[in-house]
Amino acid sequence: MTNRAIELALSKDSLDKTDIVAILSATDRQDLHAIRDRASEVLKQYCGDEVYFRGLVEFSNECVNNCIYCGIRLGNPNVQRYLLSEDDIVASALWCADKGYGSVVLQSGERHDRQFVELVERSVRRIKNESRSERLPSGLGITLCVGEQKREDYERFFAAGAHRYLLRIESSSPELYARIHPANQKWDDRLACLRWLREIGFQVGTGVMIGLPTQTLQHLADDILFFREIDVDMIGMGPYIPHNETPLAADHAEYGWQTEDAYRTALLMIAAARIALKDINIAATTALQALRPLGREEGLNFGANVVMPQLTPMDVRRNYLLYEGKPCLDESAEQCLDCLETRIRSIGRRVGCDAWGDSRHALARGARADTTARS
Ligand code: 5AD
Repeated sequence: MTNRAIELALSKDSLDKTDIVAILSATDRQDLHAIRDRASEVLKQYCGDEVYFRGLVEFSNECVNNCIYCGIRLGNPNVQRYLLSEDDIVASALWCADKGYGSVVLQSGERHDRQFVELVERSVRRIKNESRSERLPSGLGITLCVGEQKREDYERFFAAGAHRYLLRIESSSPELYARIHPANQKWDDRLACLRWLREIGFQVGTGVMIGLPTQTLQHLADDILFFREIDVDMIGMGPYIPHNETPLAADHAEYGWQTEDAYRTALLMIAAARIALKDINIAATTALQALRPLGREEGLNFGANVVMPQLTPMDVRRNYLLYEGKPCLDESAEQCLDCLETRIRSIGRRVGCDAWGDSRHALARGARADTTARS
């Protein structure tokens, strides 16, 4: 018999906070299976069984911010900083198109200077132009993940051809956000950025870290309600994993979550987000795999439908360590893709090829999307 509160939550079409907390509290094997099965059912009904790839190019670890959990924070002197050239960024993206994967994510630390903004804009424009082919008539789908920027710069990126943007809120609680960021980084500013991105026309993704010191299941349930309230198209979230050269690692050692709890709760957050928000895209993040070898497959089984294989050139990949134990540091982009395809087939799902793989949620609300895709 499953727990009554969980059973009740799983029978509902619209979850409230109590239902979400019940789901997130599950520890019993049978309860976990019931939640996983319900999330899979909702996924199948609203999204189908395809898994979409986004080739991930971490093109720079230079960062002006000092997030107290992040390994590439400005204040970490042990990081060897790098910035890929425009040609290298474009080449990595085109490699992805050539392999039949319809989307890339360009991710980096945060910079606001003109040189950086122009590099991003030019790279997007070139990737868009140079990736158009018979297979991909609209070119590669481009997702940006380059942090908080001025509204006019977001507009430039959109005009250049990027159509999705990821900006995690990290926590929907302003108090918890303030504990893990320096005072100059404000929760309100991040929220304003999310609103602008949406107004400009991007498909917008956000997300949180799971298992931060002092974070509770109530916080996490509020995160899901926040995603629903701001009507996101995509979610990327994963367990918080300490990095020794950051201030938050000491708090984690003293009163942080157990790894096992963070891992299980991260899977449950994916399931709760799937059940509550239905037709959005949800990523099975690398952080899950950092904690368990089969973490990403489990993420897919709990309701995720996107994975992000590494395309970052191998010589710089070790310098993009947001947390410890990041997997896939030694696999070439080719190996990463092959390995992921095998993993996806092994759990009975299909890889979506030659398509941007937009969330049905974004399509339904008429966002800029790939209308020429075959699948
Ligand atoms: N553990 C897990 N996730 C992290 N991120 C940054 N540092 C860590 C960490 N130590 C996540 C943040 C950020 C994303 C790019 O990586 O949520 O938004």
